[in-house]
Amino acid sequence: MIKKLRKAVLPVAGMGTRFLPATKATAKEMLPVVDKPLIQYAVEEARAAGIEQFCMVTGRGKTAMVEHFDVAFELEATLRERDKQDAIAALAGTRSEPGSITSVRQQVPLGLGHAIWCARAFVADDPFAILLPDDMVLSDKPCMQQLTEAYRETGGNVVAITEVPPEQTNRYGILRTGKDDGRLVEVLGLVEKPAPKDAPSNLSIIGRYILMPEVINHLARMDRGAGNEVQLTDGMARLIGEQPFHGLRYQGRRFDCGDKIGFLEAQIAFALQRPDLAGAVHAFLKNYV
Ligand code: UTP
Repeated sequence: MIKKLRKAVLPVAGMGTRFLPATKATAKEMLPVVDKPLIQYAVEEARAAGIEQFCMVTGRGKTAMVEHFDVAFELEATLRERDKQDAIAALAGTRSEPGSITSVRQQVPLGLGHAIWCARAFVADDPFAILLPDDMVLSDKPCMQQLTEAYRETGGNVVAITEVPPEQTNRYGILRTGKDDGRLVEVLGLVEKPAPKDAPSNLSIIGRYILMPEVINHLARMDRGAGNEVQLTDGMARLIGEQPFHGLRYQGRRFDCGDKIGFLEAQIAFALQRPDLAGAVHAFLKNYV
């Protein structure tokens, strides 16, 4: 029986060094694309896929993210007093069911695998999603929903995958593939940041995963991998052969918002999706460029 997916872990304890100085006192995941912080896009995408419970893995200086999904009584009362209906409506996605968002501390950013292990009590014995908020996907159907549909077909572990330029495999978790029907790919091996000459393919994992709880036991070994960090990829690799493991070629366009260029591209692409902004942004780009 395939267990329903209800939980998501949002690791947000990284240092965001590529975005300094912006991330000196502010979390990278609170940076806005247009007018919404990255973390909110991730939570809304997960909710659209039926996920009800969230665990943020945070660290020092990251409490704003937990606050963001709390009720701001004074702000809302002032807005109501002044009859600012649009502003009140803009807060809709920040409201959450009481008790649905919890957080744990990673304390020291020892790697993504370590961050996920920190959420072990939340995960318990359930399948869970992971969304990396700095990966954004612009698509007709939200990426996480595409993954949950694939999970209902295959069960087991399912990760979102995309082709990357062969010379960039050293930036990503890369797949060794088995059967491939053009949409779903059987995963036979995983390697984190291989040099192009050692890469088994140019298919990379992006920041959307559905994993079985057993991955936590593998992460608990605390083996250090690429960059001397505890890598999620290495923990996942140990599941292969024990459980089904598939990659899904999702429909949509991915933006790596942890990177300056990806972040700037996302600003433009997401603004062009907005009926209230598209015309002005388009006109500006045409004249300016
Ligand atoms: P990244 O490597 O993209 O984020 O990790 P980073 O380390 O913050 O960024 P740079 O490379 O220094 O610029 C992907 C996700 O995993 C989280 C990050 O917060 C981000 O959402 N992460 C990473 C943790 O929660 N803990 C870690 O130890 C490492």
